[in-house]
Amino acid sequence: MVPLRLTVLGTGYLGTAQAACLASLGFEVLGVDTDPRRVHALGGGTVPFHEPGLEPLLQAGLRSGRLSFTTDYAQAAEFGDVHFVCVGTPQAAGSDRADLTQLDNCLSTLAPFLDRRCLITGKCTVPVGTASRWARRLAALAPSAELAWCPEFLREGHAVDDTLRPDRVVAGVESAWAEEMLREVHAAPIEAGAPFLVTDLATAELVKVAANAFLATKISFINAMAEVCEAAHGDVMLLAEALGHDPRIGPVGLRPGLGFGGGCLPKDIRAFMARADELGVEQALSFLREVDAINLRRRARTVDLARELVGPGGLAGARVGVLGVAFKPDSDDIRDSPALDVAKTIHDLGAVVTVYDPVAVARAREACPDLGYAESAIEAVRGADVVLLLTEWAEFRDADPGLLGKVVARQNIVDGRNALDPGRWRAASWHYRALGRP
Ligand code: UGA
Repeated sequence: MVPLRLTVLGTGYLGTAQAACLASLGFEVLGVDTDPRRVHALGGGTVPFHEPGLEPLLQAGLRSGRLSFTTDYAQAAEFGDVHFVCVGTPQAAGSDRADLTQLDNCLSTLAPFLDRRCLITGKCTVPVGTASRWARRLAALAPSAELAWCPEFLREGHAVDDTLRPDRVVAGVESAWAEEMLREVHAAPIEAGAPFLVTDLATAELVKVAANAFLATKISFINAMAEVCEAAHGDVMLLAEALGHDPRIGPVGLRPGLGFGGGCLPKDIRAFMARADELGVEQALSFLREVDAINLRRRARTVDLARELVGPGGLAGARVGVLGVAFKPDSDDIRDSPALDVAKTIHDLGAVVTVYDPVAVARAREACPDLGYAESAIEAVRGADVVLLLTEWAEFRDADPGLLGKVVARQNIVDGRNALDPGRWRAASWHYRALGRP
């Protein structure tokens, strides 16, 4: 059987991981992006963001001759049996809704070039109804093409593993042929035992937003318990551990702290609420408003803890060392980063903020040039009145409290991610505060 030829339209976190992983599985893959600089970088073997394990896979794909990149949509149309749509669907400015400009531009550009049988497969997260709207448009613009939706569940920082070994494949299709094509593309994970679920287009779109809504709710649930623990003098870490032993609850995604950020969960729950509103079922998702509010309150509470530790003088003029700005460890993504948000707020309150992150400093400096940046954790905390741990990189979890204690002005630390051992830090004479703990 001739292997399918695949295109990946949009080469961000999702698309680049897709392209490199599909090439590693033996498919011929053409990555397509409108940004010539990105295409040049990827074609030269450089991943323009931090994602563990992705660059070697990209380079292996390029060496094998099965992977290449272009800006040319005509070439993509001629090449692909299956086109994976991996463009961004960010939050629209001034609204909770998803901005579908990239998706609409991508499909409108591709469609006129399509003159052979092919399957366009959406992978990006979209409001339910988007796929059937585009299926109708494609029927008119490109009758040889069919549309399917196959949402992606990868996590940043684990993109390669999650793409190669998905815990399930959801195939939203309108024909047996589309199902067959998607079974062929996913033959390796299916063989390895991943469930392959065939659905209609709307259900496939909904699985993705429902999954992210559930994950966000679980995080905000434990963070709401942290608020209660703070008032009632309980310990949310012990509470979470005890809850996690119940197999119906489970420990994963139940880590209390500064809450969720990034390019997915925050904007996806807002877009889901906006879509429910359009569908006349806003009440069904009104709890997500609270999920969002709990999440944002954790940021404000972290600022309060810093203020309490600094004492009567308040944060104006205080020196604050910030450890971590990425929205989570093993990523340089600062989109809607709770860490960066807290650092900015404290800066706006008049503190002198110095930030260190193992990989996200360059992006943070570009987005927030007013903050101070350091080349190492020790430099970031030198002379600090209070240290804030805001992204739980292993480097910070393993930091030596004795060593850091020697360079700060005052040994105050806020553990925004419940990542440190309070006993160890207190034994080294630090005033330790964490969200949801005594
Ligand atoms: C999330 C989902 O987990 C993926 O399944 C989904 O495919 C992806 O969004 C997407 O829609 O593309 P991601 O944004 O990479 O993936 O990150 P997560 O690992 O889910 O973490 C999200 C945020 O929640 C981070 O800021 C993290 O620090 C926070 N978090 C996570 C907690 O505060 N507590 C937890 O227990 C878990």
